[in-house]
Amino acid sequence: MEKMLQPNHYSDPLERLRDMDWDYEGDQSASQFSALHFYPGRLISQIPAALIGTLSSPGDSVLDPYCGSGTTILEAQRLGRLALGIDINPISTLIGRAKTFAVKASRIQVIMTEHLRRILDERLATSLNNESLKLVVPPTVQGSKWYHPATLFELSVLWTYIQSCSGVSRIMMEFCFSSILMSACSETRHWGYICDNTRPLDKSYANAFSLFEEAVRALCVAYVERDRRLNKGPQSLPSIKFECNDSAVALSQHQNNEFALVVCSPPYFGVVDYVKAQRLTMEWFGLDIQIYRTMETGARSKRTRLKAFEEYISDIKAVFVQVERVLQPGGYCCMILGQSSKRRETIPQLIEALNDIGLPLSMQIVRDVAIRRSQRPHINDESLLIFRKQPLSAN
Ligand SMILES: C[S@@+](CC[C@H](N)C(=O)[O-])C[C@H]1O[C@@H](n2cnc3c(N)ncnc32)[C@H](O)[C@@H]1O
Repeated sequence: MEKMLQPNHYSDPLERLRDMDWDYEGDQSASQFSALHFYPGRLISQIPAALIGTLSSPGDSVLDPYCGSGTTILEAQRLGRLALGIDINPISTLIGRAKTFAVKASRIQVIMTEHLRRILDERLATSLNNESLKLVVPPTVQGSKWYHPATLFELSVLWTYIQSCSGVSRIMMEFCFSSILMSACSETRHWGYICDNTRPLDKSYANAFSLFEEAVRALCVAYVERDRRLNKGPQSLPSIKFECNDSAVALSQHQNNEFALVVCSPPYFGVVDYVKAQRLTMEWFGLDIQIYRTMETGARSKRTRLKAFEEYISDIKAVFVQVERVLQPGGYCCMILGQSSKRRETIPQLIEALNDIGLPLSMQIVRDVAIRRSQRPHINDESLLIFRKQPLSAN
């Protein structure tokens, strides 16, 4: 449930935030979009919603330089803020775009229902005559490794159909297709095996058509729920953008003082491989995992490098040098950060680094992480760190 903030009797917004309960028992996201696509380390939507609602005003611009599955950007848009999400992971951009179309849910439902009907026709046509449709499976897909032959066939029918579409519906269908790959895959033990490219023990059939239909319907339901929560119609939603790049590089192209607020959760040191976690989708999209992986900050697979820790701190610093420049004077920069008890301590170092950059710490709150999420290597709590750029002096 979304926690209601009390009427604003606080003169200092940080006091208001300090009085909130940040533990969100069970860590259940209030946004119906959250669980539609697998993405490790997602924020629950109530956290960015509370920060954006308290530290910015409608019409302001919000930045998330590590936007992942787009939680911050979605909440910013819902609350009437302009927003930019940047991430090195190309699947992050796909996920974010598919969830943020400023189109009425009823329209989306009509479009997607029509696509489902056509796919059903296609499925019938192909099962009657395999020759009637030239199926496409990109050469980068390790089809016989990950999928039962019948599932692979169904996936290739879906993929071939999606390639013939364009615009909003193509992005939505690519999103739904990507979201079912983990369930369609024969590896059922843990996503870590897919991440590490380990062959499944045996082949199990999953009905890709049913999975896809469910995914499309769930996306439509999330849009209906979004529209229900909006005060005005979706046509009034502000424009939002996503960029796929290293954040330091992407931000170097942006203007000074462009953003009123930054809300993000940078990768924790040596805990997750975000690019490799999307291996199945990367294969269908013909994306080279190696290229993106080398640009990823703090990846788990880099943890044993001699200079892994120094590289992590210096990568994050490079991003926040830009963040400080693009943030308006007096603007807040909020960061959710955890650290694994199995790795070197990072939070004190990062607080010091941001202070040196010109973003002194204004507030730190430690929040519990639900057991379900803490299984990522030994993260039992996370810190909400709020930094503030010096306001312009009165004279
Ligand atoms: C903790 S996750 C963010 C999760 C996000 N807040 C959400 O709710 O889904 C950290 C993100 O940082 C991204 N990342 C890692 N290195 C990056 C870099 N150099 N530039 C931009 N993004 C990067 C990862 O791909 C990952 O999506």
